[in-house]
Amino acid sequence: MSDCTDAAIQATCNDASVCKKYAVDKGYWMDRFISYMVPGRIQRKQPEISRGYYARTNSIWLLLKRFLTRCSCTCQIVSLGAGLDTTYWRLGSENMLPIRYIEVDFLDVVVRKIRCISAKVPLHSCLSDFSTQDDESCLHCGSYHLVSADMRNLGELEEKLKQSGIDYSVPTLFLTECVLIYMSPEKSNAIIQWVAEKFSDAAFINYEQIHMNDTFGQVMISNLKARQCLLAGAEACTSLKAMEDRFINVGWHNAQCQDMWSTYNGLPDKRKIEQIEMLDEAELLQQLMEHYCLCVAIKESSDFGLESLLRF
Ligand SMILES: C[S@@+](CC[C@H](N)C(=O)[O-])C[C@H]1O[C@@H](n2cnc3c(N)ncnc32)[C@H](O)[C@@H]1O
Repeated sequence: MSDCTDAAIQATCNDASVCKKYAVDKGYWMDRFISYMVPGRIQRKQPEISRGYYARTNSIWLLLKRFLTRCSCTCQIVSLGAGLDTTYWRLGSENMLPIRYIEVDFLDVVVRKIRCISAKVPLHSCLSDFSTQDDESCLHCGSYHLVSADMRNLGELEEKLKQSGIDYSVPTLFLTECVLIYMSPEKSNAIIQWVAEKFSDAAFINYEQIHMNDTFGQVMISNLKARQCLLAGAEACTSLKAMEDRFINVGWHNAQCQDMWSTYNGLPDKRKIEQIEMLDEAELLQQLMEHYCLCVAIKESSDFGLESLLRF
């Protein structure tokens, strides 16, 4: 299977942020920064979509906070394919920033995000030493780093992380939220393996599609194909066990993968958000959530208790 066009891959960050903003406006969770990344009015989204984004955003958020607490914030977070994500700002507003937070995406997405940050005071006033950017290809402001790389080129990714001051001796969490499936399994496995080899204490949170070889999964693939987006990594997204094995086989000490239906049903404020909107189709929600998963892998040489991330 060939890759999506890069333009179609980059457009997916807009879809993600638009859906997140819609859900935030409806009250599914709080994020006072997202409206600066995605200005303007947004068309109605089905409640199934908003609940899906709620499960995705909140389960990752709880895991990130658990990691930061375990490491007393003396750690790094690297968000690969970060798009227009606002997690850095949300963590800052809770005084929970790590010593280094690095975001990586394609150049066009990075330029767009830097323009957005530069234009919006509530975004750049949170960054230390921010000054208007002449170079729109990267941003290095205190603990925040935004750099461009095509992550299918591991050498380029490594170089950009180096320019951001990455420290291999510090516990580091890598986050890929709907990202790896856009590259071939060879390319994404190379990243997963590289992290395991470089860091002695690390965690990896991967959120993406699963069960892509059943009928519903095939429909998801053809819907994206209609938008010029072929999921080059779909063949690695077959079962929960296969997803865990991707990590274990390349040196991670432990990995646990759960579908989003199970994850959603364990979230603390699920009952509350279910009052926001009535579902159009309850069965569709379950089917959709069973086709996304959260996988957490850990590698630990010190005693930070990273195994606690495996219980979600
Ligand atoms: C579906 S969006 C998700 C954005 C963000 N993680 C979120 O959940 O809001 C996927 C992102 O991954 C980025 N991406 C995919 N493949 C990439 C690659 N090879 N190199 C750099 N970025 C990539 C896209 O540009 C896009 O911003």
